[in-house]
Amino acid sequence: MGDATVGVAVLGASGSAGGELVRLLAVHPSFDICYLGAQRAAGETLAQVHPHLEALSLGTELLRDGDPAQVAAVAELVFTALPHGASAAVVPALRAAGCTVVDLAGDFRLAAEDYPAWYGFPHPAPDLLPDAVYGLPELLGERLPGAGLVANPGCYPTSVVLGCAPLLAAGLVEPGRICVDGKTGLSGAGREPTPSSMYVATEGSIRPYRLPRHQHTPEMERGLQLASGHTADVLFAPHLVPTVRGVVTTSYLTLAPGITSETLTACLAEAYRDRPFVRVLPAGEMVDAKRTRGSNVIELQAVADPRTGTAVVVGALDNLIKGAAGQAIQNANLALGLPETSGLPSLGVYP
Ligand SMILES: NC(=O)c1ccc[n+]([C@@H]2O[C@H](COP(=O)([O-])OP(=O)(O)OC[C@H]3O[C@@H](n4cnc5c(N)ncnc54)[C@H](OP(=O)(O)O)[C@@H]3O)[C@@H](O)[C@H]2O)c1
Repeated sequence: MGDATVGVAVLGASGSAGGELVRLLAVHPSFDICYLGAQRAAGETLAQVHPHLEALSLGTELLRDGDPAQVAAVAELVFTALPHGASAAVVPALRAAGCTVVDLAGDFRLAAEDYPAWYGFPHPAPDLLPDAVYGLPELLGERLPGAGLVANPGCYPTSVVLGCAPLLAAGLVEPGRICVDGKTGLSGAGREPTPSSMYVATEGSIRPYRLPRHQHTPEMERGLQLASGHTADVLFAPHLVPTVRGVVTTSYLTLAPGITSETLTACLAEAYRDRPFVRVLPAGEMVDAKRTRGSNVIELQAVADPRTGTAVVVGALDNLIKGAAGQAIQNANLALGLPETSGLPSLGVYP
């Protein structure tokens, strides 16, 4: 499959996030895809599963259901775009074989004791958790160079932590309770069809789900603590909206006295001054998930409402790119000492 600088495996290449990884990695200047993993789709070609990728030379490659030793024999870098639990089952062997792993599932984002309550299983490899780097490059990038295991953040936590942590760290909002309203398009649920994700169930529907126990809740709390040094209780209400891509989070925090929209905006603008994938909107301009579609960009906006003493922080991103595959590649770039932007789109598709 080409002579590459770094041999790369994508496990879960037949899935939604895996398909986006393949599409982006195929034009990455330093990575060469040498293994495409799948389970039920094993034996099919990439183009059979993802017809939009047929033009790639990889289009005729067969998806494989090999064991970690077979993956490690050909790949130095492995992206695990697998369901929760399935990643944790293969990552220990991949790490033992010397692979650098970027995990897109939630299997390495929390402390071991959180897994039974929030993911429904005891963690099978708790000894790996202390070394897993939570990969939020804009705020927690210092541990990424040389990291062997990167926990790629969830789409909702990426939006919430990038928007709120600088304001918490600067004391412009109070720690304590943060209420988060989240909205996601249907691709956030993966490719497996279910009765509740069918067109007849989703057309015209806007509905909450997994209230109040969505697994991204403790991840937001942990990410905010890591990135701001402050402890906050997060109340998270996710909603499904009838679009394909896009995440929007609206976070409500207690405003510190005397703080204006301009102060909040200036704080975010300063925090992300040189960051290529964060667009902080001027006071009064509203974010729009549609503008982020197809890019690794997150849009952020912060508004003060002095009447109620509330700071409203809004983030918007493409769940499959900055919320998954794009951020995973950004993390891999930094882990391996490559330019952060390498192979990543900063221009959206619009309208
Ligand atoms: N979709 C998003 O917006 C998004 C955003 C952030 C993070 N993530 C995370 O990324 C991961 C993948 O999500 P997705 O949306 O791409 O899901 P998906 O479309 O359902 O894809 C899952 C992939 O995993 C493979 N797979 C399932 N069980 C497996 C097993 N036991 N061993 C090996 N391969 C297995 C599937 O292969 P077959 O289909 O061939 O069986 C498929 O390729 C999840 O952990 C998800 O939470 C997703």
